[in-house]
Amino acid sequence: MRDTERDSAVIKAVEWKNGRVRMLDQTLLPHEEVFLELTDYRDIAGAIVGMKVRGAPAIGIAAAYGLVLGAHEIETDSKEELLAGLKTISDALAATRPTAVNLFWALDRMNRVAKAGDSADGIRASLIEEALALETETEQAERSLSRHGAELIEDGFTVLTHCNTGALAAGGYGTALGIIRMAWEQGKKIHVYTDETRPLLQGARLTAWELHKSGIPFTLITDSMAGHFMARGEIDALIVGADRIALNGDTANKIGTYSLAVLAKETGVPFYVAAPTSTVDPSLASGGEIPIEERDPEEVTHIQGIPMAPEGTEAANPAFDVTPHRYISAIITEMGVMREPYSESLAGLSAGLQEA
Ligand code: MRU
Repeated sequence: MRDTERDSAVIKAVEWKNGRVRMLDQTLLPHEEVFLELTDYRDIAGAIVGMKVRGAPAIGIAAAYGLVLGAHEIETDSKEELLAGLKTISDALAATRPTAVNLFWALDRMNRVAKAGDSADGIRASLIEEALALETETEQAERSLSRHGAELIEDGFTVLTHCNTGALAAGGYGTALGIIRMAWEQGKKIHVYTDETRPLLQGARLTAWELHKSGIPFTLITDSMAGHFMARGEIDALIVGADRIALNGDTANKIGTYSLAVLAKETGVPFYVAAPTSTVDPSLASGGEIPIEERDPEEVTHIQGIPMAPEGTEAANPAFDVTPHRYISAIITEMGVMREPYSESLAGLSAGLQEA
């Protein structure tokens, strides 16, 4: 069966439309599909902090468009003044979320293009071109890595995934969920287990919404049920995304990923990480150096604004954890399937990344 015979609906989490940024407000899903039209970079920064847009590749794309909007807000003909203003805007966008390296990768790429421009108007024009190219390349990378990853998914597989790594989190296709979608579009009979992903329920709200929309069969479980299903031999593979991958393969991803990886090793289930190379941080030797975002404890004490714990309960809320590379069976990128030793397989990639 050709890839397109079961082509699922196209979902764009964030895109450039008629001089504005069009963004699907993910905090309202799955009950309401509301598209925001943003014209102010401050609203982009607010949307990233408030998780209206989330997921490493999608955050990078949103930040790139934020810089485009910012460049139009700065009223000047002077290249120097524009670059100074863009630095402030870039710093504000960079301060939104610390863990997903795609945010910094996208801003670096945009800032390099701005610096190379020879006039204020020239910079504004090249920034929009660059942001559009970044979005297109991100989606292409997702489709390529999904093709590589789909080769690891056999007909009849049951696959467990965590958080949301689909089109909503990415450039239009997805990473871990992109692989699942590609295998399904290729005609493989698969079943997906998606966990809820507390505290913000990206699995229950967003992955379930995407799978439902695409017609891919799935079962929702709570986070704590994963070990039960793995131990009973009901899961053939685990696939998750990544927010930042160090050069030794250590991977930061949504909180709970580490526990799943340990359970996968214990039960002999292959544990795959899927990410575009823009998620590899060539400046970090190991995962201990990855900054972990701490979010509002109210996300833990409350669910969708409703209190679940006694008033005044103290709660911790690290949004990500780091899975040591020894638990990872393979890292699937658009350049192919990387295996241990990652310090060697990712080194080839990183040479290219550092040159970029
Ligand atoms: O806090 P979030 O929802 O932005 O976290 C998202 C994840 O952890 C994803 O797994 C990761 O960004 C990869 S998205 C393709």
